[in-house]
Amino acid sequence: MAFVTFEKKNHGVKNKDLDEQHQQIFDAVNALYDAAMKQKDKKTLTKLFENLVTSTVSHFVAEEKLMQKYEYPRYATHKKEHDDLTKQITDMLNNFIKGNGVVAQTHLYFIKDWLYKHIVQSDLLYVDHIFYHSLDTSQHRDQ
Ligand SMILES: [Fe+2]
Ligand SMILES: [Fe+2]
Repeated sequence: MAFVTFEKKNHGVKNKDLDEQHQQIFDAVNALYDAAMKQKDKKTLTKLFENLVTSTVSHFVAEEKLMQKYEYPRYATHKKEHDDLTKQITDMLNNFIKGNGVVAQTHLYFIKDWLYKHIVQSDLLYVDHIFYHSLDTSQHRDQ
């Protein structure tokens, strides 16, 4: 069983690009978790960790762009959550690079919990606003 599982019915945000980005982040978490469990070498783990940070940060940028474009009222609060996580995950990566090559379990579980919580409690709040405001620019797809 995967460490984290993207479920459209629970995590879908009615936007194909954002859903795909969320899935990519989940995939990146699973790849890092699996490699950590298999005690892969530090170079491999660093690459996977960097990939997780990069896909997370680029997703945040995409999400924030849409929120600004459609003047989402909770933008500032949401952006703060992104900024806090960006700092935490970047610190985790830097600590890993400085350390002995073991990915801390507590970090993996922190990231897992943060992702689920953020998508369900914060991302889902923007769904109606962004979906509704994107109707006339065909940003939305099929749902
Ligand atoms: Fe978000
Ligand atoms: Fe998100």
